[in-house]
Amino acid sequence: MSRGWESQDEKSYWIPDCDIEGKIPLDIHGSLIRNGPGINEVYGKKLKHPIDGDGMVCKLTLYDGKVHFHSKFVSSFHRKAEAKENTFIFPGQMGTRIHSIAADTLNAFKAVFYGSKPNLKFRNPSNTNSLYWGGKILTLYETSLPHCLDPYNLETLGLENLNNSLTLNCAGAHFRIDPISMNLIMFGLRVNLENAASLEIYEFDKQWTLINKLNYKIPGLNYAHDFLLFPDYFLFHMTPFTDVSKWTAFQILIGWSSPGESMHWYPDKPSMFVVIPRKGKSENIMFFKTDPCHIFHFATAEQNGDKLHFSSVCLSETMNMSFAQGLWLSNADVSPGQVYNFTIDLSKNECKRELIYNKSAEFPITHPYRHGESGSKFVYLMASDGEENLPFKDVVKLDIKSLKKTVWNSDGIIGEPVFIPRHGYESNKKGSEDDGYIIVQLYHPDTHKTDFCIIDAQHVDDGPLARIKLKHHVPYGFHGTFTPEVFFYEPKLVFTKSKL
Ligand SMILES: [Fe+2]
Repeated sequence: MSRGWESQDEKSYWIPDCDIEGKIPLDIHGSLIRNGPGINEVYGKKLKHPIDGDGMVCKLTLYDGKVHFHSKFVSSFHRKAEAKENTFIFPGQMGTRIHSIAADTLNAFKAVFYGSKPNLKFRNPSNTNSLYWGGKILTLYETSLPHCLDPYNLETLGLENLNNSLTLNCAGAHFRIDPISMNLIMFGLRVNLENAASLEIYEFDKQWTLINKLNYKIPGLNYAHDFLLFPDYFLFHMTPFTDVSKWTAFQILIGWSSPGESMHWYPDKPSMFVVIPRKGKSENIMFFKTDPCHIFHFATAEQNGDKLHFSSVCLSETMNMSFAQGLWLSNADVSPGQVYNFTIDLSKNECKRELIYNKSAEFPITHPYRHGESGSKFVYLMASDGEENLPFKDVVKLDIKSLKKTVWNSDGIIGEPVFIPRHGYESNKKGSEDDGYIIVQLYHPDTHKTDFCIIDAQHVDDGPLARIKLKHHVPYGFHGTFTPEVFFYEPKLVFTKSKL
């Protein structure tokens, strides 16, 4: 099963009709743009963890029942530098070192002794998420600036600071779309040893005009991978799983640890939600203690007056970022993610949580254009709905209000389910919350090949309406998004026909 992380080459081709099983619904029109590591070794250097692998963007174009597959690496500075030297140069934040720990330690002490700085220039794999917005594809990696890609040919155009908006020189891996304005909300977080994290929150319209930018200093907010958007508030989790101390920094500096390897539960650190008014001053930020847990990914959000209802996947105190069974990004085999409902009562200063799905799950997905909307309740998860915590074989649809679940038990190993709204950009006001499809990557360990499966979101347990069967594997990925737009340079056959 670990072969699903093996390196893959770039490809671009139309999928032959004979490789499409079932029928692709004709009302699906757009592009799935997903990101993930395309390599598991660099010029013979085996990577310690998939998160250190260079991003390969896959664009699956669905148009009039036809499918085009295109994959291309993000051409980053470090990738080009390593290609020039034909060797591994840049260490990874998850522990892939240039030399052994002992050699790195010796080199670090030598550098300090001779008055120079140890080499701490980590690679920017730009591999965690990707989105299309305003004519650009952005690839995201939370400690670095995004890369900008041409949506037509996936060529990397360079690092992107969005007209100098990203003054922290980074952008968080996850973003939200405001269901009312349909503007894009992004954030950046930069921490320092003085324990005063700088947080910036940006709002862009569809032309990348910066509509609003907010800046905060929030001591203790040492990490943020995702956030929630309510009509009146932003919500982040202050995790007790990261430590920005001089001792941790020293260990990373001399090669004894890495940012990823230092991620584990620190019992003296608080687990708190940070609630930031969308309009107002930073002194109005509120903090709500919750049980020790780590949250990579949030799911639903709903505001009823002074009450914030939301759900997320929570990891327990035993979580660390070891590469479990050569299969998953953390030790989910012994410390699985589980889904919880939370309620914060702002007026009573209360925070309550309730376990609603006790199997192993990750990558919760909701309707992209209805986030934070009153009444929203559907979450789609990659899960292991049986007795084992890994691998993730099942797509689970969970109603976080009634707790009803529907499951598709797949015949392989699945990736993140991505929701395709049936009515495109109008789906924030047309149709029901689950009116659309799920598209999910499915890896078959026996044949070492990948399918993309399309499922009716209202009938997840019926399984795929269509399977797009590739003749090769696509490495397990992280996150992606669907846009109701297609990008071709070539004139389309349908236009030629209409002129005849
Ligand atoms: Fe994520």
